Amino acid sequence: MNIEIEKHKSSKIVEENINYTRIHPYFQSENLILYLNDCIEAMSQLQDDSIDMIFADPPYLLSNDGVTCYAGKMVSVNKGDWDRSNGFDKDLMFQESWLKQAKRILKPEGTIWVSGTMHNIFQIGYLLQKLNYHILNDIVWYKPNAAPNLACTTFAHSHETLIWAKKNKKAKHIFNYEMMKNGTFPEDKMKTQNKQMRSVWSIPTPMPDEKLFGKHPTQKPLALLKRIVLASTRDNSIILDPFNGSGTTGLATLLIGNRQYIGIDNNKDYLDLTIKRFNHYNFNHQLFV
Ligand SMILES: C[S@@+](CC[C@H](N)C(=O)[O-])C[C@H]1O[C@@H](n2cnc3c(N)ncnc32)[C@H](O)[C@@H]1O
Repeated sequence: MNIEIEKHKSSKIVEENINYTRIHPYFQSENLILYLNDCIEAMSQLQDDSIDMIFADPPYLLSNDGVTCYAGKMVSVNKGDWDRSNGFDKDLMFQESWLKQAKRILKPEGTIWVSGTMHNIFQIGYLLQKLNYHILNDIVWYKPNAAPNLACTTFAHSHETLIWAKKNKKAKHIFNYEMMKNGTFPEDKMKTQNKQMRSVWSIPTPMPDEKLFGKHPTQKPLALLKRIVLASTRDNSIILDPFNGSGTTGLATLLIGNRQYIGIDNNKDYLDLTIKRFNHYNFNHQLFV
């Protein structure tokens, strides 16, 4: 299936779940919609209890003009203006606003994943508890190929945290336990075949072949998102990523198949990069399933 060809086909998700008086899709095909909007604005137009799983990779707020190491060279840590902190209180207010919308639109048995680093993950954890989500796991995504710490003043940052939560404690959430236990995860040197999946996942940062169509400064590895989608959704699930970036969550959704995806980002260049990635992978769809 080539998404470009199907661009004008209306999505199955559209009529049922979205109020079109205020937002319009930037791109859509049968199983996906992309919005070029602020995520809080776009989420406010989604129906209550309409989404099965949310993966969110919000700004890390670490772009403070410092330096880091990339491919052996000293480079700026700045990811873009969208990643600058507006101060503790405003950052907290922003995170609370979108997490409230997320809770409203999640189905009762739906779950949310939020990824972050020490710059934002403690605010997220605090807010998830404040908003009465029920935390299921905090996953350590260990990056075996993380960049060294050039300043040599702290330990080298080599993980991110993913908090997985459900809407409330009593809800019966989806967890594909057997698939996680018995599936094959060749990228993960810490996973033992046919043993329970543990909460530390070793997955390298995206390889050059995941960046063929351009770079997003905080692009997640496809293997990470495939695992998340496989673990916590089923056929016909609707998956939302309010911080779509280069569309890794959407790509994982389409490659796994039988699911629908809604992506939101307020940066046109990133949505265009997403569309290029969708077209490429879908053109070669049979190779990846
Ligand atoms: C950490 S990146 C997500 C990267 C993504 N997970 C990937 O694999 O490419 C965060 C994204 O959120 C977008 N963003 C930041 N603030 C936003 C907002 N208020 N509404 C919608 N998108 C926003 C940025 O443009 C950026 O692409």
